[in-house]
Amino acid sequence: MTHVTAVLRTDEPPLMHQAVEEAVRLLKEGEVVALPTETVYGLAANALDPAAVTKIFEAKERPTFDPLIVHLPHKNQLDLVADVPADIAQTVKQLTERFWPGPLTLLLPKKAVVPDIVTAGLPTVAVRVSSNAVFRKVISAFDQPLAAPSANRFGSISPTSAGAVLSELDGRIHLIVDSGASLYGLESTIIKIEPGPPKPVITIIRPGPVTPDDLKAYGKVKVAIRSVIDGPAESPGQLASHYAPRTPLRLLEQPSDFIPEPGKRYALMSYRGEEQDGYLHLTDWEEVMMLSPGKGKLPEAAVRFFHILRRLDELGVDEIIAEPLHEHGMGIAMMDKLRRASVRHAP
Ligand code: TXA
Ligand code: MG
Repeated sequence: MTHVTAVLRTDEPPLMHQAVEEAVRLLKEGEVVALPTETVYGLAANALDPAAVTKIFEAKERPTFDPLIVHLPHKNQLDLVADVPADIAQTVKQLTERFWPGPLTLLLPKKAVVPDIVTAGLPTVAVRVSSNAVFRKVISAFDQPLAAPSANRFGSISPTSAGAVLSELDGRIHLIVDSGASLYGLESTIIKIEPGPPKPVITIIRPGPVTPDDLKAYGKVKVAIRSVIDGPAESPGQLASHYAPRTPLRLLEQPSDFIPEPGKRYALMSYRGEEQDGYLHLTDWEEVMMLSPGKGKLPEAAVRFFHILRRLDELGVDEIIAEPLHEHGMGIAMMDKLRRASVRHAP
């Protein structure tokens, strides 16, 4: 499977037109195409064509027990792929009206038309509608649901730029459509919905840009992020070792937890780079990169999160040390990812 991987820009109208046309042509031929979304870049294929979807798993080297997210051309097309149970229909309607297009994925009973390979044989399908303008142009012209996981090799860091996709999948796919840096920088929030009474229960299975606070007007919100140590995965892809750089990473809960070993080279992923946070002087860092320089704003940190993790990973240091983030809003998702990344390399 060696391809020449083209990267097509979309920052001028004629280029955009060509890129969209080429993406649709490939999708119609049953190929995979890397497309921008507002969360991270996705590797898309016709969700209703098992042979096309198989190519996603091959390009990513993704095990087939890990199900994919299905993206719809429009929010009024949910019943193409899902059977919405009557007892949660009103909540689903409210949530899709409020958050679609956008970074919220719903788990719902699947329709038979969705191939088993998409859902890893599960009776449910994960569905969302992307708000990225380029993605919307492609999926509208293609006019079919697209299965699209993040466009990285399995277990690796999600790509938030076309360059990051290229470094993950160069030679494995025909086309990457470039629309610049991802707007949110973190994958969509995945929820399941159960009926009341008294209130519907919304369970967050993967934390993301849509936060518990955003959801609380629509039901009782539970966060069921599986502990990274134990428990069966509610969401099969939520493996402990997900999102891991190749370089060992350690999340420090507090500065005093770090005793540098002589001769080892360390890089710091700092939240805002403030002296008073206590991390800057712990050792002679090979490199310090800040998620939200000086400000400490979680949405800004989210946009830069995977990008900085990727760059720190490229340095070839012995260990990446990560400062903890505030565990609210988008900080919940980042802390979850840092914990998962640091478990794989735990001493
Ligand atoms: O923002 C996003 O969601 C991005 C963009 C490209 O849309 N996509 C994405 O896909 O993050 P992926 O494959 O990297 O993560 C999808 C995860 C799976 O690993 C799995 O945990 C969960 O969604 N998932 C999908 N279908 C599921 C199902 N039927 N039941 C439980 N979890 C499911
Ligand atoms: Mg992924």
